[in-house]
Formats: sequence, C-alpha cells, structure tokens
Amino acid sequence: GAPVTVDISALQEGQRLILEWRGQPIWIVKRSQAILEALPTLDDELRDPNSENVDQQPEYVRAANPTLRSMRPEISVLVGLCTHLGCSPEMAAEIRPEPFDANWKGGYFCPCHKSKFDMAGRVYQGVPAPTNLVVPPHYYADETTIVIG
Ligand code: FES
Repeated sequence: GAPVTVDISALQEGQRLILEWRGQPIWIVKRSQAILEALPTLDDELRDPNSENVDQQPEYVRAANPTLRSMRPEISVLVGLCTHLGCSPEMAAEIRPEPFDANWKGGYFCPCHKSKFDMAGRVYQGVPAPTNLVVPPHYYADETTIVIG
C-alpha cells in the first residue's frame, strides 16, 4: 500500500487521530507531560518494557526511545489492533483511578479479553496479549507532517 501523509498541527494533548494504512487503523496520540513521566515508572509491570521484541516496532523507533516507543517524546504512533486476536482497544489517556483499574496511568484496554497496554502501547503482564502494540514505519516530513509507511 501507498504511504499515508498526516497533518498533526491540530492534534491536542490527550487526543487521538485515527486513520487507515494498509487496511489497518493507525493511531496518532499526543501524550501529556504527566503521561511521559509516568511511563518509565511502569516498567516492572510490563512484559517487554524495553521494546526488545523486534517485530513490534522499527529499529529506529526503539533506538530513539525504547520506553516511549516514539521518534518524538509526545507523539505516539501505533497500529490500533490488540496483539491478542486483533480487537480494537479503547483509550483512556489520563492518569486517574479507573476506568480500567484502580491505579490507571493512562493507556489502552481491550474489551474482548481485557488486555491492557500503557500509553506507549507496551503490554502489561498477566493479560492475554503476548506483545506490545505495533509501531508502524513512519517519519516526519516536517514539523507537523507524519508519513506512515
Ligand atoms: Fe484483545 Fe483478546 S483481542 S484481549
């Protein structure tokens, strides 16, 4: 499939843009500073906190930041499909008690079999999903333009 170009200039903190690339949903999410600070504190609860599974993201994304899993700290780009059986996870991008557990630090929750992922798409331990969400190949054409593919 052809690459897809996205203008992110209007994307607000806590918001998610959803587009399609190669028949898959692509999420582009702008994370808050509070979320960025919370992500490294979750490592002990995660299955692959350092993005060591090479199939789940391009090497240049892992090299840029294996915890945030992004080229730019605040902007996360993910394939929006649960790595268990491909359902569409829900997003709750705020740090607050609930909605998906008492210590929710923001992230994604799959309603099909209750897999949980943090705001970098890193999977929690003890859930059916085996791996982190996929980061698709992408690059910045300029400050506010991302090319997926
Ligand atoms: Fe997401 Fe099963 S498809 S937990």
